[in-house]
Amino acid sequence: MSTKEKTRIVGSPVPRKEGADKLTGSALYVDDMEREGMWFGATVRSTIPRGLILSIGFDRRIEWSEFTVVTAGDIPGQNHVQLIHSDQPCLADGKVNHCDEPIVLLAHPDKNKVREAVAAVQIEYETLPPIFTIEESERGDVVVWGADNLLKSFLLEKGDVDSAWADAAHIVEGEYRTGAQEHLYIENNGVIAEYRAEGGVTVWGSLQCPYYVHKSLLSIFDLPEDKVRVIQTETGGAFGGKEDYPSTLAAHAALLAMKSGHPVKMVYDRMEDLAATTKRHPSRIRHRTALDKDGKLLAMEIDLATDGGAYSTLSSTVLSRATLHSPGPYFCPNVRINSHAWATNTVPYGAFRGFGAPQAIFAVERHMDEIAAAIGMDPVELRRRNFLHDGDTTATEQVMREPVILEKLLDRALTESGYRAKRARFAKENLRSSIKRGMGIAAFYHGSGFTGSGERYLNSLAGVDVTPEGQVRVLVSSTEFGQGTNTVLTQIAAEAMGIDYDNVVMAPADTGIVPNSGPTVASRTAMVVGRLIERACLQLVDMLREHAGLDEHYSDADFFAASERYRAAKGEAVSLCRYEAPPGVFWDDQKYRGEAYPAYAWSIQVAQVAVDTVTYSAEVEEFWAVQEVGRVINPVLAGGQVEGGIAQGIGYALYEKVLLQNGHMANNQMTNYIMPTAEDVPPIHVYFEEIPFSHGGYGAKGVGELPHDGPAPAILNAIRDATGVSFASIPLLPEDLYLKLAAPQAVAEAAVV
Ligand code: MOS
Repeated sequence: MSTKEKTRIVGSPVPRKEGADKLTGSALYVDDMEREGMWFGATVRSTIPRGLILSIGFDRRIEWSEFTVVTAGDIPGQNHVQLIHSDQPCLADGKVNHCDEPIVLLAHPDKNKVREAVAAVQIEYETLPPIFTIEESERGDVVVWGADNLLKSFLLEKGDVDSAWADAAHIVEGEYRTGAQEHLYIENNGVIAEYRAEGGVTVWGSLQCPYYVHKSLLSIFDLPEDKVRVIQTETGGAFGGKEDYPSTLAAHAALLAMKSGHPVKMVYDRMEDLAATTKRHPSRIRHRTALDKDGKLLAMEIDLATDGGAYSTLSSTVLSRATLHSPGPYFCPNVRINSHAWATNTVPYGAFRGFGAPQAIFAVERHMDEIAAAIGMDPVELRRRNFLHDGDTTATEQVMREPVILEKLLDRALTESGYRAKRARFAKENLRSSIKRGMGIAAFYHGSGFTGSGERYLNSLAGVDVTPEGQVRVLVSSTEFGQGTNTVLTQIAAEAMGIDYDNVVMAPADTGIVPNSGPTVASRTAMVVGRLIERACLQLVDMLREHAGLDEHYSDADFFAASERYRAAKGEAVSLCRYEAPPGVFWDDQKYRGEAYPAYAWSIQVAQVAVDTVTYSAEVEEFWAVQEVGRVINPVLAGGQVEGGIAQGIGYALYEKVLLQNGHMANNQMTNYIMPTAEDVPPIHVYFEEIPFSHGGYGAKGVGELPHDGPAPAILNAIRDATGVSFASIPLLPEDLYLKLAAPQAVAEAAVV
C-alpha cells in the first residue's frame, strides 16, 4: 500500500503551485480580465422582504435605449437556479421573498452609468407579511414556503431514548444559538459571460464548482451540454460562498450577454456581495442529556433547527451535516435527533465551511461543559469518559473501523497548552484582577467527503494526461481558491508517477477540458479526488510499461520519451479513474443509518481567553489545535488551513454579527461587520498526528473544514472558566458580556429604564 511507503514529495512543504503568479501579480482574477466589446452588468434588487411586484418603471432621466434590460420574461429556459431543488428563481417573477432578491438586470458599456441606472428603476409592490425567525417560521401563522415553511427535516434514532431517563443519575438540558456568518472571501463574486448563437454560453468566473454552474446554465438557457462552457478564473477565497451563488450570477451575466450581443462582466462590490449573497445558517439547538452516576452518557435527545432563508439552496445538506455532527465525538447508546430547516424571508443561507457542523459542535461542546458543571465533574474528564473508540458505533450506528485516537490528541493538547497548570494559576490570579483568564476545550470530529451515498451519486471522474510539450496535467474540475488544491493534487500525481513536482501542472478548471471530478466542497478534494489521481497515475505508469517500454526504473526524461511513444501509437496518453466506494459501505437514506462518512478527521482545540471586566471585551490570547487528518500531504498548507479555520472561528464566536433590518443586512460593510484582523488573531499552535486513511489520496482525509468547528465552543468554555458565567449564543459581543457580567442589579435597572 502506497500510504505506508516513504514518499519524496507527499508530506513535504513544496511551494504553492500558483504561488509565484499570485505573488508577482501575474495571476488573473476575473476583474483583471476583459473581452473585446465588453459591457458591464448591474442588478436591480427587491427593497422589501416579501410581496407582489405590481409594476416596473423606468425613470425618464436615463437614456434607456443605450442599455440592455433583462427581466424574468427574457429567460429562454427554466427560471430557476438548479441546485438540489429548483425553488429559487434566477430572476423574481411577479413576487419577491427576500430583500435584495434580483428582479431586473441592466447592462451598458460604461460601468459607472450602469450603476447609476439601478436607482432609476422603480418597482411598485403590494407587500405581504414577512417572517424573520425560526420561531415565526415553525409557528406557521404566516406560510412563506411550501405548505408549512419546512425546507427539510431529519429524524435520527439509535437505541431507546425514552426509557433511558428513568435510570439516569443526572439529566441536563440546554439551549444554544448561533448567528449567521459571512464568508468574507477577499475577492467578491464576479463573472464574465459571452453568448454566441452557434457556440452557446461561455462563463469565466470566481467559483468553486464549474460543473454546478454548468448544470444550472443548461436549464436556464435550455441548451445541450456542449453549448455551455464554464471556466474558473483565479479565485480569491470562497469558503463555500462560491459553491452555490455563482450559478445565479453566471446566469445573470449570460442573460445580459445574450440580449445585448456583448460579453458582460458583473463583479459585485463589497456592499452588494454582503447584502445579496449567502451566509452561514443561524441555528437553535436544544440538548437533553441523561448520564449515569459516573458521568457516562446514557441518552442524548437533540432538537436542532436552522434558519434557511427564502429558498432551499443547500439547506438540506447543511441540516444533514448538522444532524450527523450534533452528538459530538462521543459514544452514547441512545440518541434521538430531530432536525428542521425553516424558511424565512431573508437572503437564502447557503454553504459555508463546515456546512452545519460548526453550529452543531458549538451546541454539543458548550453543553458538555454545562453538564460537567451540573454534575461536578472536570470538563476534560467528562469528555475522556465518553470518547468514541475504534469499534464503537456513532449515532447512525456506523462502526468506527479506522483507529480513533481522541485520548492521544487530548493528552497532547493538554500538555502543549499547559492546560491544568494554567487553569490553576488563572483561578488564583483572577481573584485579584479585573482581567479574568480561562482555558476552554473543544473535542470534535468532521466527516470527510459527501454524506452517505453522496460520493457514489457524484460518481467523480478524474485523471492525468501527458502533453506533447512534455508535461503531466492533472485533469480535475476541483478548483483552487486559496486552500491548496493545485499543490496537493500535483504533489500526489508527481509522487505516484515518480517524476519531478515541476513536471506536473494543473489543467485549467474549464468544463471544456476537464472531466467532472465533483464539486470542490465538503473536505473531499485531497481524500476523494486525490485518491482518483493516485490511481490514475499508477494506471498511466502501467500503461507506459506495457505499451511503450518504460523500464522498472526511469528518469523523468525516460518517462516523457515513453509517453511520446505511447502517444504516437495510441493518439493520446491519458488515464482517467472513476470513484469506487470503499468496500462494506452501507447507508440508508430513509432511516439515516450506516456509514455517514467514509472517514472522520478528529481534533482537540484549546483556547486561552481573557475577559476584561471593565470594557467587557473578550480576547483570545493563545490557541492550540491538535488534529488527526490522515496523511498530511503538505504540512505548510495543512497548517495554514488550520490557522485560517481558527481565525474564522474566532470571528464566528466573538466578532461577526449579521444585523438584519426588515430582512436586509444593515451592516453590509467591513467597517461595521467586524471580522478579526491580525491584531485579534493570537499565536496558534498546530500539531498533527498522522494516521493514513487507507482509501484517501496517499492516506489523506479532509482538513479544510475541521478547524472552523471548534473555536466557538472552546472560547465560550474558556469564558465560562474565566468568569463562572455561562453564555449560550454566538456571536458574543462586549454588549452581550456586559448584560450578564455587570452587576445584576444594574442590568435589571437598565432594562426597566
Ligand atoms: Mo463547502 S461549505 O462544502 O463549500
